[in-house]
Amino acid sequence: MTNALAEQVIYLDYQSTTPTDPRVVEAMLPYLTDAFGNPSSRHAYGRQAADAVRIARRRFRALIGARFDSEVVFTSGATESDHLALTGIAHAFTGRRRHIITTAIEHKAVLTTCRRLAHHGVEVTEIPVDRDGLVNPADIAAAITPVTILVSVMHANNEIGTIQALAEIGQITRDHGVLLHTDAAQSLGSVRFDVDHLGVDLASFSSHKIYGPKGVGVLYVRHGSVRPIAQLHGGSQEHGLRAGTLNVPGIIGLGTAAGILAEERDHDAHRILALRNHLLERLRAAIPQMAVNGSLTRRLPGNLSVTIPGADAGQIIERLPGLAISTGSACDTGQPDPSHVLTALGLDKADARSTLRISLGRPTTTAEIETAARQLALAVHAILGG
Ligand SMILES: Cc1ncc(COP(=O)(O)O)c(C=O)c1O
Repeated sequence: MTNALAEQVIYLDYQSTTPTDPRVVEAMLPYLTDAFGNPSSRHAYGRQAADAVRIARRRFRALIGARFDSEVVFTSGATESDHLALTGIAHAFTGRRRHIITTAIEHKAVLTTCRRLAHHGVEVTEIPVDRDGLVNPADIAAAITPVTILVSVMHANNEIGTIQALAEIGQITRDHGVLLHTDAAQSLGSVRFDVDHLGVDLASFSSHKIYGPKGVGVLYVRHGSVRPIAQLHGGSQEHGLRAGTLNVPGIIGLGTAAGILAEERDHDAHRILALRNHLLERLRAAIPQMAVNGSLTRRLPGNLSVTIPGADAGQIIERLPGLAISTGSACDTGQPDPSHVLTALGLDKADARSTLRISLGRPTTTAEIETAARQLALAVHAILGG
């Protein structure tokens, strides 16, 4: 089936989700048809599925520099991985005073989970970010107390694309004997990620942000570090950390997507960065009052978050049926409040509502960028009467 929308709409919302790479789809197909075994079964069908899962796990493990297969725990996505990391570690320390440090710009999967834990007696500190959307590692160090058990800092932000100084934060957490979790759902597709270089004990990933299928993800759990307590109970899959029959086609897809990234990510990121910078130049020339949110140097190559004062982002999008772009984060669609990320940067409500997120990906072309820049400028000028 070809998607007729692709002929009519330029997709520039790759941070919301990515299309599944056709090579990934091809690798998955046998596991949706003939090779349907349950990897927990002892017979030939089960072994066939288990062998394929093993290969997928190795591919993913290699991509993030993990040492043991058992460190890669398959989940249903980054939301579940975040939940397992945070709630699972809080439960591992039940009975003691517990303090978790996180940041004001985390994805809601982390922030809401932390706030829930706070209702259950866990102390939570949310570290603010500067005007560039960056966390100061010294603020993390200063917030650590004798009862701190975990620091959770996202690698790259889903709205403004800023990349945190995780290796520096990892050094601080190691020096203090505190665990470090990162939500790396947004970074893995375009930025190198190595668990040892960054010093993380736990890391969340999502397949549908790296050209894999939806509904599958990973929690990396460092061998020898404190293990989270399982949040789903039943079978003993995933070394007892996540019960439930494995999503074999999804896992094969995720493993294949990881293998493609290992080969192509650097090249793609370079190309996407050049396109993003070209788009930025075009937009700056056409809309001089436009401001970019977040650091331009410590930023995902494919992300642009721009504020156009006085131009409501919802209105802009309504005028652009041929463009798929986002106001703030797609995961928050329908929420009346302005984005917590933009307000954490210091934007007022009006500016937060005049903010667009444009995100480029593997299939983005120069022609698409030219058209998008032209259409956006026209829509903004129509709204502002310029
Ligand atoms: C930073 C971040 N964390 C978590 C998620 C949720 O991931 P999933 O859809 O795999 O549950 C997203 C998705 O937008 C994200 O951007």
